[in-house]
Amino acid sequence: MSNQPIGIFDSGIGGTSIFKEIHALLPNENCIYLADSKNAPYGNKSKEEIIQLSIKNTELLLKKECKLIVVACNTATTNAISYLRAHYQVPFIGIEPAIKPAALNTKTNVVGILATQGTLSSQLFHKTSDLYASGIEIIEKIGEGIVPLIENGKLESQEMKSLLKGYIEPMLQANIDYLVLGCTHYPYLIPLLEDLLPKHVKIIDSGLAVAKQTKAVLDNNKLLNTSSNKSSIKFFSNGELSVLNSILSNAFDTNYLNF
Ligand code: DGL
Repeated sequence: MSNQPIGIFDSGIGGTSIFKEIHALLPNENCIYLADSKNAPYGNKSKEEIIQLSIKNTELLLKKECKLIVVACNTATTNAISYLRAHYQVPFIGIEPAIKPAALNTKTNVVGILATQGTLSSQLFHKTSDLYASGIEIIEKIGEGIVPLIENGKLESQEMKSLLKGYIEPMLQANIDYLVLGCTHYPYLIPLLEDLLPKHVKIIDSGLAVAKQTKAVLDNNKLLNTSSNKSSIKFFSNGELSVLNSILSNAFDTNYLNF
């Protein structure tokens, strides 16, 4: 079973930021990535819709015999992972905004978070914030419009720059010293954000933590791939492949699949 693939899904191409962390830490592991770009963004959908889409993605990955599934989407994790864990046997790894390290390290006691509406309104996000960030002011901004621009290959457009500026300015006025990226599409914005933010504001995302957790869970379940064969990495998307290919620097095998 250990040479079966890790399954990874996201509402689109953003979860490739998580795939890259996993592949760097676990280069031996075979991986199958599903980009549900046809249904992106998930961020404005109802909890019920997000659960249904997460079920569809999970079933497809299970058909492809995945041994573990990474929900590489904050919106799907915060709305659907408890349903998935209750209904399927395979281990699930989720991703949540890194509020805890930001709250532990802030000096100004003000932390910014950029995430989707679905994540910010979820019970899981509120639970995590109450647990780790009581006494810290959290400036929440919904990153409305960001995911569609990334999905359409407009990562570095003027439109993107003005959107980001509008989200970041009120956070800076409130004196944040940490900006938490609560959506797996957003790590691709780090170069633009670094241009907009003063040096003392640190950006954090949860990618490396997810990769480490994936490794730990595989290890605990004796599922780490011990084969020394070159790993097989496959990407499936029901959207435009050119944007996926460019975000992957054309380094992997990508396929269109109608799902
Ligand atoms: N990449 C996703 C996340 O982490 C989903 C964004 C969206 O589809 O709205 O939340």
